[in-house]
Amino acid sequence: MKSGTSPLYPNQTVAERVSQYSEEHSTALPGHITELHSRVEQTHARANYMISNFQGQLHVFLARTIGARRVLEIGSYMGYSAMVWAHAVGPEGKVTGLEASEEYAARANEMFEEQGITNVEIIQGDALQTLPRLSSLQLAEPYDIIFIDAQKSGYPEYLRVILEQSAPGAGGARLLRAGGLIVADNVLRRGLVADDSEDNPWAGGPGQASEYETNRDLEAIREFNDAVVRSARLECVLLPLFDGVGLARLLD
Ligand SMILES: C[S@@+](CC[C@H](N)C(=O)[O-])C[C@H]1O[C@@H](n2cnc3c(N)ncnc32)[C@H](O)[C@@H]1O
Repeated sequence: MKSGTSPLYPNQTVAERVSQYSEEHSTALPGHITELHSRVEQTHARANYMISNFQGQLHVFLARTIGARRVLEIGSYMGYSAMVWAHAVGPEGKVTGLEASEEYAARANEMFEEQGITNVEIIQGDALQTLPRLSSLQLAEPYDIIFIDAQKSGYPEYLRVILEQSAPGAGGARLLRAGGLIVADNVLRRGLVADDSEDNPWAGGPGQASEYETNRDLEAIREFNDAVVRSARLECVLLPLFDGVGLARLLD
């Protein structure tokens, strides 16, 4: 039987070339988006919080494949990935970002203003509190995509709230529509989620030193991944791409 293991990354050099080639052969993002990515990379110490341009290309493809018009993002940082979603849904679409940091929320809003982007709203506050209140505020239509990219310890609770508040029959008050996607970033965490033994050179080393990293992160992501695959309401695929991208489709 053919193994699912990819032969594409025999070492770091080949892995980088394969990734670059794949990025170059995927529909490019507009220049204003890639320029913003470079600018944040050059000027901000925590630029590695952002998804890559290549992952952005995947997000645009996914959103357009399902005709997404409304996207909710949990964890927006400087607004880079929100800007990618805004591009994907077009000016008639809408993106809502939940961001805990007052400073990052302000920087994201400045950047949207500078770029003339008017279809993104950032709600500042702890998403563990703002997410459960959202369905009562956003009565118009449920979201087509929910992108989870905030603190890893919160992933299981975000999933619980999304499923609880997207019950069939809840109409516009539900968070995610039937057939909508949950896209979760960092669900493999440098491979440690699948293997944190000494075989993994990242094990025991310094983490990415984010402000919100906790000792419970690996456990929380495993709990999240298990809950996704066990849920009878979701169909899912976990992609070993980037830092691990979890895709789940709500069936009901
Ligand atoms: C990885 S960064 C997001 C990067 C962004 N999605 C991008 O690709 O451009 C994670 C963000 O989540 C925010 N965050 C962490 N805990 C949060 C919480 N409880 N509620 C809302 N945002 C949170 C952090 O402040 C940080 O800006």
